[in-house]
Amino acid sequence: MRKFFRSMMTMGAGVMLTLSMVGCGTSGEDIPTANETKESAVAQPAAENESIKVGVAMPTKDLQRWVQDGENMQKELEAAGYEVDLQYANNDIATQVSQIENMISGQCDILVIASIDGTALGTALQGAKDADIPVIAYDRLIMQSDAVSYYATFDNELVGRLQGQYIEEALDLKNAAGPFNIELFTGSSDDNNCHFFFGGAMEVLTPYIESGKLVVKSGSTTLAECATPNWSTEEAQKRMENIIAAYYSDGSKLDAVLSSNDSVANGITNALVSSYNGEFPILTGQDCDITSVKNILASKQSMSIFKDTRTLAAQVVKMVTAVVEGTDVPVNDTETYDNGTGVIPSYLCEPVFADANNYKELLIDSGYYTEDQLK
Ligand code: BGC
Repeated sequence: MRKFFRSMMTMGAGVMLTLSMVGCGTSGEDIPTANETKESAVAQPAAENESIKVGVAMPTKDLQRWVQDGENMQKELEAAGYEVDLQYANNDIATQVSQIENMISGQCDILVIASIDGTALGTALQGAKDADIPVIAYDRLIMQSDAVSYYATFDNELVGRLQGQYIEEALDLKNAAGPFNIELFTGSSDDNNCHFFFGGAMEVLTPYIESGKLVVKSGSTTLAECATPNWSTEEAQKRMENIIAAYYSDGSKLDAVLSSNDSVANGITNALVSSYNGEFPILTGQDCDITSVKNILASKQSMSIFKDTRTLAAQVVKMVTAVVEGTDVPVNDTETYDNGTGVIPSYLCEPVFADANNYKELLIDSGYYTEDQLK
């Protein structure tokens, strides 16, 4: 055990309480038992002289949201007195694996990981488990690893449902006769979130597709068919261009496009601008990236989901602190996220939709962006 909290994690809560009293050194009555003396002998110098080091592994700097996530995490953790090892892996799985291995050998005491491929970290994380290092999955669930202690994210299914409902309302699907043409795009199928985003949206849209009120001219309706490798803007643009050429170049109207996030929506927008002549369709997104918010203001994207990364970072810092202090870790979902080794206790933050009508209040008034950033 390298640090104070790890020795504390192996003790009961009562012992932890006693230890913290001993640490305060209030009175001679707090005479520790033999075991406590042994533990506190390890604990005291560490608590005073060593800081707790948190390894924060982020997938890529390519997307604005992860840059913000990393910056927020670093700021919040340092403000809470932790040492931080923040790494970005350029969306490369091997790089992320080696960064995590370095965090383990580099004496990190706890890991916070936003994975690239949720299934690719099992071996690396076995090392964390062997070294008794707790792991918190950040935003994306890490699959098939029993080293994962907690998960913090936004309610991913709700993200999808909000996107589906936005389309439902914008086209007035409950009342209008239709039919309307729609195309469907989601993200990387190796990202566990994708299943929730796409699943949530399709829960709303499928009944309309089945009744014929929504028509998918490309015929692509499964996650595999609608996936965008690496959430790549270029891949989404290529797929949209192909769909336009094959199904909408005869003047057919495209009424809506479901996109699971902003990087994919940006590719769709690029394709629509370059090769679609009709009126811009309803187009969803997620993250409120600056490019997308600008597109929303220019009527080239209809909405995005606002996931305030400050909220998520603050939540994860609370979880880290609870793990370190051995107190109850705040979670609000113990059913939804099974990573293949069991349900991972999770904290789900609430996402909301943003569009041209409410962006000022959500994004500017809250201090997330300045007006200038959106010009
Ligand atoms: C995140 C989204 C993000 C996407 C692409 C997902 O796991 O939840 O916010 O847009 O990855 O990076």
